[in-house]
Amino acid sequence: MLITDTLIVTPGPTEIPHRVLLAMAKRTTNPDLDPSFFKLYDEARSMLANMLSAQRRNIIIWVGEAMSGLEAAVANLVRSGDKVAVLSNGFFGDAFSDLVSSYGGVPILHRVDYSSVLDPDKVSSFLRNEAKEARVVTMVHCETPSGTLNNLRELAKVVKSEDKLLVVDAVSSMGGVDIDVKWGIDVLIGGSQKVLNLPSGLTILAISDDAWSEAERVGYRGFYLNIKYWRDAVEKMEFPYTHSESLVYGLVESLRMINEEGLSNVYSRHRAISRGVVNAIESMGLKIVPDSKEYSSPTVTAFYVPNNVSEAKVRESALKYGAFIAGSWGPLRGKVLRIGHMGYTASLSIMTSALMALTKALNDSGYRVKVGDVIEAFLSGVGA
Ligand SMILES: Cc1ncc(COP(=O)(O)O)c(C=O)c1O
Repeated sequence: MLITDTLIVTPGPTEIPHRVLLAMAKRTTNPDLDPSFFKLYDEARSMLANMLSAQRRNIIIWVGEAMSGLEAAVANLVRSGDKVAVLSNGFFGDAFSDLVSSYGGVPILHRVDYSSVLDPDKVSSFLRNEAKEARVVTMVHCETPSGTLNNLRELAKVVKSEDKLLVVDAVSSMGGVDIDVKWGIDVLIGGSQKVLNLPSGLTILAISDDAWSEAERVGYRGFYLNIKYWRDAVEKMEFPYTHSESLVYGLVESLRMINEEGLSNVYSRHRAISRGVVNAIESMGLKIVPDSKEYSSPTVTAFYVPNNVSEAKVRESALKYGAFIAGSWGPLRGKVLRIGHMGYTASLSIMTSALMALTKALNDSGYRVKVGDVIEAFLSGVGA
């Protein structure tokens, strides 16, 4: 059997919608000089500002994979010797600890299990006690490797009541889950290759006025990740370095698609598809990584492979049936599979195909499940 139409249902990078592909195929000029590029860049900022309830002037879109946003947040807000409260329930939460140390900061870690989420009451007590002296708090909204979603709104409230600055990695949730920076987010980080369905290469930052002031105080002297160079530059359309036109054209198209559907419809579609996928996984007798369905992210489902089944073999086999699914990272590597339902891939037809491929692949590995039963469970979970 030769399958040539493989669907990319990894939790980023994702399948790219045709409209976005076409937009990225547009002729490019010189983004340092072309007024039509400035217009589109500004349109992207306005749409992002609207999506995140941020001020347009506080939105930066720069060239660099999303990790550049995580590193920039630390570089610009943490001075050598500063204590930083690192809230972690997973792989990327832990990554902040390393970043803080690498800039000479002192991470004070509040850690819960990968299968769990951060508890606002416990975080509140941590911030009042162990992390009392920390000025900056870091956390991850959706922990992609374990498929969990933290309650950002409640956690932001707790952080703000302690008068600290909050840095949030929303790389795999931005665009698929409601986020309002007015909840109390000082640096919000997004990436192009997740819900926005572009290739990797753009980082999106929403920066609060307090964070800009803190960056002035900290006085980071590096160049590429220095947010100060972007503040005025973006208003004057004099970028510190040459932008990536094609990616910005794609971003504009992706955001237009979101707006055409309507933000609340986009978010409820993600929730419905996620319910369906979790239901389908559980109908197979498999266990999702989050301790509770309530913790499972609308954008990604992570689940354990059955005993005696090789995670790598299932992925390899699923590819033959037309779906590119993912394994996981850190302590979950080799034990967990993940399906991303992000933006365009949070779709009835795409997830039906992905689940069909997964079911066939599991059968190939000796784990017996019926495609029809799994699809029924998916559709009933979605409510279709
Ligand atoms: C939560 C989160 N943060 C950051 C990133 C960026 O990391 P990477 O460079 O591995 O794509 C990812 C990508 O998976 C992510 O899921």
